[in-house]
Amino acid sequence: MQALPKHVTIKEVGPRDGLQNEAAEVATHDKIAWIDRLSETGLPYIEISSFVHPKWIPQLKDAQQVADGIDRNKDVTYAALVPNQKGLERALEADLDELSVFMSASEAHNKKNINKSIEETYDVLQPVVREAKNAGKTVRGYVSTVFGCPYEGDVPIKQVLEVSKRLFDLGIDELSLGDTIGVANPLQVDQTLTEIKKHLSVDQLAMHFHNTRGMALSNVLVSLEHGITTFDASVGGLGGCPYAKGASGNLATDDLVHMLHAMHIETGVQRDRLTDAGLFIQSKLDKWLPSHQMQICNKERV
Ligand code: HMG
Ligand code: MG
Repeated sequence: MQALPKHVTIKEVGPRDGLQNEAAEVATHDKIAWIDRLSETGLPYIEISSFVHPKWIPQLKDAQQVADGIDRNKDVTYAALVPNQKGLERALEADLDELSVFMSASEAHNKKNINKSIEETYDVLQPVVREAKNAGKTVRGYVSTVFGCPYEGDVPIKQVLEVSKRLFDLGIDELSLGDTIGVANPLQVDQTLTEIKKHLSVDQLAMHFHNTRGMALSNVLVSLEHGITTFDASVGGLGGCPYAKGASGNLATDDLVHMLHAMHIETGVQRDRLTDAGLFIQSKLDKWLPSHQMQICNKERV
């Protein structure tokens, strides 16, 4: 096994990627209480919501109220998704630390997700990134469908690289590579990162896995061997993408923390507090959360 990093940064995306795909409506005050719990777990980063069109993602229509209501922990970076100028204006009003722009490596998913071609999206995002940076925010970029598209199937690595490089040219600080529909396998992650590392520094990359087919932790291990030290995850494995059928279940933060700590890799996260936060949001949804850690907890409680 290659040398592994000693510390990993986990970016909690549950309140955004987790809730955006949930049928059950979570009350704004419950979202706030959940994020406040997550803020006390030692997680350094929480994506709290998304300033997209409320008609497209009604689950996150209360982004402003959530941003206003949470108790901000000075050790936590609070972030949200921003698709365009209108989203930027709303997000700046909410005064978050970091804003995330997003697009896909495949044309069809980009169109379904944000109603623009890839080429048109650069024109939309250019002023958004510039103005966000002028306002003192850091900007994260997401590329979706890196390992496969629900509409186009295989996505050539050169398309991923093209979109990634253009996002860095726009001025993003970090790029998150998304396995939107959870199809990535460890060999593919190895091959993709080998290619990407020829052009981009691992220090600027994060991996965003979905566990739809149970391969997320294996993909994390391969990424760790490539020197990746930032991973997106969602407590309990909540999550998905409404414009990618079958994209259920983000990599679970609690399973990730369990594996990393067992391998003596620090995260700064307190597992008991993370479990409490998972149990809290589970109690607000009409279902058990899919992570292994939550299943163990649920079995112990019945
Ligand atoms: P559009 O309909 O093309 O927007 O939607 P438009 O620019 O034509 O404007 C139409 C109307 O919407 C206008 O109002 C705008 O003001 C309004 P009107 O003049 O008709 O009254 N509008 C907005 N209102 C509020 N907030 C806004 C906003 N923008 C326009 N931000 C748009 C384009 C991008 C807005 C829409 O397609 C959208 O909201 N898409 C969201 C899709 C989404 O959230 N997908 C999930 C997140 S991505 C993901 O999950 C992947 C990720 O996890 C990584 C991975 O797993 O791969 C990140
Ligand atoms: Mg996602």
